Amino acid sequence: MDDTAIKIENLTFFYNSDEEGRAPEDVLSNVSLNIEKGSFIAVLGHNGSGKSTLARHLNALLLPKGGAVTVFGMDTKDEELTLEIRRRVGMVFQNPDNQIVSNVVEEDVAFAPENLGIPTPEIRARVDEALKTVGMYEFRTHAPHLLSGGQKQRIAIAGVLAMRPKCVVFDEPTAMLDPQGRRDVMEIIGRMKNEMGSTVILITHHMEEAAMADTVVVMSDGKIVMDGAPREVFTHVEELESLGLTVPGTVKLMWELRKNGVDVPLGALTVNECANALAAHFQSK
Ligand SMILES: Nc1ncnc2c1ncn2[C@@H]1O[C@H](COP(=O)(O)OP(=O)(O)O)[C@@H](O)[C@H]1O
Ligand SMILES: [Mg+2]
Repeated sequence: MDDTAIKIENLTFFYNSDEEGRAPEDVLSNVSLNIEKGSFIAVLGHNGSGKSTLARHLNALLLPKGGAVTVFGMDTKDEELTLEIRRRVGMVFQNPDNQIVSNVVEEDVAFAPENLGIPTPEIRARVDEALKTVGMYEFRTHAPHLLSGGQKQRIAIAGVLAMRPKCVVFDEPTAMLDPQGRRDVMEIIGRMKNEMGSTVILITHHMEEAAMADTVVVMSDGKIVMDGAPREVFTHVEELESLGLTVPGTVKLMWELRKNGVDVPLGALTVNECANALAAHFQSK
């Protein structure tokens, strides 16, 4: 059995040159990555490092200029497969306002599955299920534009879930949300991975969100520069900071303590792990 959801091989991409005819520069160069079915990948990187460009290759919104992207065995360059690919890989973007297309929540959620040719009787059931999953079922007849940013983003996620995709790419879905909205979105992502077995790719600036992933991929200038378990990647504090990134507050605290001669482990990632490591250290004194 093939466990690969998405295979990216030597992907190179540039946007076509502007009106002045300047030679286009590679925005992605030689990116290779294997994403396993059911895994949760976080993508980090400074602004302009190519994260969104990479994301748009995963459901054929952009096509490789060099190399290949294969989605559940389908080459994205094969135009006959575009619809099949988009049924399997959903996208959630940063700004929920740009993703709302209807004046009624349930119609909005039905929009994507309708566009993908899902039979009408089935759509009703899918819409209800998706709205329950994101905790917005009681708002089904409401007007989306009157909801909070977090609620709107949950509606956008429901629209994607109603397609029953195998994989969802989230491009900074929490960037415009308040802390509660962010927690709600992360809670849904956690359930998609753990209960629905979805493959999740999360682009984020929030290190605490990236820490929840199985694998963290760090991009810089169109290349993948680090790739590993969060616990491992986040120990490279200085390297990450030189790439314009931070590390989770927990890791930073341990790192500063170690710099000051306090012998605590750097691998404590959650607040709990951090507290336990500190308690163990001071109890042994
Ligand atoms: N539609 C576009 N046309 C031309 N250049 C673009 C376009 N979108 C992005 N870029 C350029 O590609 C590079 C990577 O952008 P992007 O993938 O959006 O990075 P990120 O999501 O990591 O911030 C940047 O230099 C950006 O200016
Ligand atoms: Mg981006």
